[in-house]
Amino acid sequence: GWDGRGERPLKRCEHHIHIEGTLEPKMLFALAERHNIALDSSMYSTIPALEERYRNFANLDDFLAYFNKAMDVLLDEEDFAALAFAYMQRVHADGLVHAEVFFDPQAHTGRGVALSVVVNGLKKGLKQGELEFGISTELIMCFVKHLPVESALEAVAEMKPFVEKGDVIGLGADSSEKNNPPSKFAAVYSLARELHFPRLTMHSGEEGPADWVRQTVFDLGINRVDHGFHAADDEKLLEELARRETFLTLCPLSNVRLQVTPEGVHQSPIPLLLAKGVKFSLNSDDPAYFGGYILDNYLAVHAAFNFPKSTWRRIAQNGIDGSWCSDARKAELS
Ligand code: ADE
Ligand code: ZN
Repeated sequence: GWDGRGERPLKRCEHHIHIEGTLEPKMLFALAERHNIALDSSMYSTIPALEERYRNFANLDDFLAYFNKAMDVLLDEEDFAALAFAYMQRVHADGLVHAEVFFDPQAHTGRGVALSVVVNGLKKGLKQGELEFGISTELIMCFVKHLPVESALEAVAEMKPFVEKGDVIGLGADSSEKNNPPSKFAAVYSLARELHFPRLTMHSGEEGPADWVRQTVFDLGINRVDHGFHAADDEKLLEELARRETFLTLCPLSNVRLQVTPEGVHQSPIPLLLAKGVKFSLNSDDPAYFGGYILDNYLAVHAAFNFPKSTWRRIAQNGIDGSWCSDARKAELS
């Protein structure tokens, strides 16, 4: 069947990509060597062994242990720039035209890396990619749910100058969902609103229940939900999400690797979302860990559901419409 390549290829937008999740094992080992960092041998022996471990995550927290450890090798501006540029180079080959990129400032400042090193480095790599490949990009900070709310408030406050400069366009929330209901973080989003963060999103309903997606959308007033997978368990909620045009950023291969859909992408509620008119995009989440970049995710969904061309055009157009870029850029992409 048709796979979105070839003539008039689909213009793909990505809205759920953690830049730290693009740290390939090869770059991880190379950076460790460059910085003379002794990697913990119980986690990191060889590249093939590590890749094999990545195929066997038990759940989100099991993955997060690796994700949060690997970033120890990201130290200077050059590292962050190289990481971002490598991602741009890789997804250019996948037909990606627009990327909204997450990063976890607390995960870096907590190791003693200055925030300016992180943001300026990432910005540099993304800009270089924009120039070379014509991909538009935005940066979104995520606070991590596993640290105290107080730490998230500090991270948001510290980001203020970068938001004012337009280097960072919004706030998201990621990391461990267990025992961390959205309502716990209401003050963090209030502060982001006070500081005029233009865009708000939140990881919700990846492992957590539909009710947490409800909290995110209804109680916190956030109209983009990262994953939002378990919203599909609640038909009434889906109807409400469709009515509000809440946008879900789905991550099909991530869901397989993190045992949300252990048997495969065919267990994803994508057909139900289409039927209910809930808007979504398809994304790679942490491609260095989950076995595929953006195109691999599209191809996996196509292999599972064999959607007709018209459905793929609709999915791609919804991705453009749901993007946080200018109307002029959307018109260019449509
Ligand atoms: N951090 C990186 N990827 C994540 C995911 N899928 N869920 C929560 N936190 C994350
Ligand atoms: Zn994510």
